[in-house]
Amino acid sequence: MEKGALQQLLSQMSLREKIGQMIQLTGACFDEEAVLTGETGTDQLPEEAVWMAGSVLGMIGGEKIREIQKVYMEKHPHHIPLLFMADVIHGCRTIFPIPLAQACSFHPQLVQEGAAVAAGEASSEGIRASFSPMIDVSKDARWGRIMESFGEDPYLNGVMGTAMLNGYQGDRSGTGTEIAGCLKHFAGYGAVSAGREYNDVEMSQRTFLEQYVRPFRMAMQAKPAMVMTAFTAIDRKPVSANRQLLHQLLRSQLGFEGVVISDWGSIGQLEEQRVATDQKEAARMAADAGVDIDMMSPAYVHWLEELVEEGTVAMEQIDACVWNILKMKNRLGLFEDPFAGIGKSQILSEESRTVAYTLACESCVLLKNDQILPLDQNQKVLWAGPYVDSPQLLSRWAIFGRHSDVNTIEAALKETGAQAECLQGCEMLSQEECRMWQVREPSGASGGIRLEDVAKIQRDDTVVLVLGEHESQSGEAASRAFLDLPAPQQELFEAVAQRTDNLITVIIAGRPLDLRAVTEKSRAVLLAFRPGTMGAKAITSLVYGKENPSGKLAVSIPYCVGQAPVSYWDMTTGHAMSQQETDNRYRSRYMDIPNKPLYSFGYGLSYTQFEISDLRIGKEKAKDDGKVSVWCKVKNIGQRAGAEVVQCYIQTLFAAIVRPEKELIRFQKVFLEPEEEAEVEFSIRVEEFLYYDEKMHLTYTNTPFQILVGNSSECVRTAGVVQF
Ligand code: BGC
Repeated sequence: MEKGALQQLLSQMSLREKIGQMIQLTGACFDEEAVLTGETGTDQLPEEAVWMAGSVLGMIGGEKIREIQKVYMEKHPHHIPLLFMADVIHGCRTIFPIPLAQACSFHPQLVQEGAAVAAGEASSEGIRASFSPMIDVSKDARWGRIMESFGEDPYLNGVMGTAMLNGYQGDRSGTGTEIAGCLKHFAGYGAVSAGREYNDVEMSQRTFLEQYVRPFRMAMQAKPAMVMTAFTAIDRKPVSANRQLLHQLLRSQLGFEGVVISDWGSIGQLEEQRVATDQKEAARMAADAGVDIDMMSPAYVHWLEELVEEGTVAMEQIDACVWNILKMKNRLGLFEDPFAGIGKSQILSEESRTVAYTLACESCVLLKNDQILPLDQNQKVLWAGPYVDSPQLLSRWAIFGRHSDVNTIEAALKETGAQAECLQGCEMLSQEECRMWQVREPSGASGGIRLEDVAKIQRDDTVVLVLGEHESQSGEAASRAFLDLPAPQQELFEAVAQRTDNLITVIIAGRPLDLRAVTEKSRAVLLAFRPGTMGAKAITSLVYGKENPSGKLAVSIPYCVGQAPVSYWDMTTGHAMSQQETDNRYRSRYMDIPNKPLYSFGYGLSYTQFEISDLRIGKEKAKDDGKVSVWCKVKNIGQRAGAEVVQCYIQTLFAAIVRPEKELIRFQKVFLEPEEEAEVEFSIRVEEFLYYDEKMHLTYTNTPFQILVGNSSECVRTAGVVQF
């Protein structure tokens, strides 16, 4: 629709119609099969409010949505189409690895392809907007939502968030196969205190702006259709009532032009947070702060009309919100054809499965390999653990994924023809854990291990144990105080480790776990996180060497839970621990564990080896064109084709304020045949060195920055120093 016609439409709408656009209800108002992803209020909404609401969430089904849309548009005074939104977080029906795993691929192009597949499937099923990507910097393994993020690094979150948005929103406009993306949660939710879900957030303004807002700043280039407000407060002001954050920072400074949507009930929660006296006050605060859509709270639906009529909320404010929403619907082409994408893309097509398979292969991280992997297909191997015959490779956020579409490891092994015998070994969770995690499926009577399975293992047998968290143990509302494997699996692991010296452990999890015992007693460890629909095939291909692992950790694996939160970019300290004086007590250290994580950000092994050499920087260029160039060579010096992720970090050598230990600034994944060598060039704009000085002014001058290059955050060498 032309801009003029859209403006005219807005001018013709009644106040009630306008407010309708600003309200989002769950699909349960229209369809009893809709997925509920949060708590619903108890109060019954008037019939008219339901049929006036501008968007719904949590529904799927092309034909069902077509029917609802038809009836809705007929009833609507201006026939404005309803926008169907949902949490398409890591795939719609073809489920990709969780975002945390996707980040480990360090392959943004592949992440973009996955998101394009998800958009095709979602739009085919009637969904035209997703609440994804989540780019909350997350470094606390206790937080259940770490699985939804791209990990601990701000830059990596920005790169992957941009890639995912490009995949969703793509350049397919007019086809109906693109969907609106939503950056969330603006901002800082990833730093909930003590990793406890929905807890408060406390951090300095500098850290907030430099590290937590950075991915949002970066992803603005992909023109996100929406931004979702975080549940949390920044400097004690809840984001959904924070005018300064939403107007000055998000809209003016970051240049965001789309729709601001609240998180589920976050406007209503202003009352619970005791910053609004009641729901009416909450509605006023959120409207004033610039929240365009109220997702699932009673505030706008019950109070906005009265607030406008009494003059507390200006009509211009309402118009500005509705304009943003109409523009989004128009950009999706809904006014021309509200059914455009329905039935257009094939669900779970061969191509989609191939993208999911490749992404799953590239997302797995080989943490340890004591000359045992890859295995030979013809060698007899025992595959054991509750994951071997389980389709639970998805996640709680794969809300439309179906376990019946997932191949199990046992089935994947049969397809390859490998000489494998499968043993379940134990249940996934004990009965007590089932109760704790509200898992309905029945657990074994004792939840203990199957001794008859363990007894089959002989000392020289090679055993692959596939162990990990249950799907219900990560995602929203799934914080954990312990990072251990479920009880029966710990018992199984110890029993198997005592019987064989040839143990390989594959870990399925939604977060970094405490892997000390696993890495100590296994000869190889492959971390697969939650690998999705094609996860089983990816795992067997990697173990048998059909594929070569190339994933690198997007998040540190803490030594133990007491070390969390930990990241490679933690601030530089005084009393720094030195490797030379490990017995000095008066250092920034724990007395009982090392300072370093068990495995650090950027780490990951391959079946081949790489050599990074010839590090150089182009300092003089900085003055010429405002860019710093960094070069190196990377060579595959092993016997197999493989991929290395060359990583470039900056380290502030001296500044008036304390700065992060290191910061990732570029990376490149390079695929090389044996003996092949490639030249890598990174070009860094000078603005990317900006940081906040003592007076909160952005600066990069008079500050020496060391440029480091390597293949993990721990394994880097200096390429030179720049100063502007
Ligand atoms: C989550 C959001 C999600 C929304 C809709 C909320 O509880 O925090 O990330 O998009 O529900 O399901």
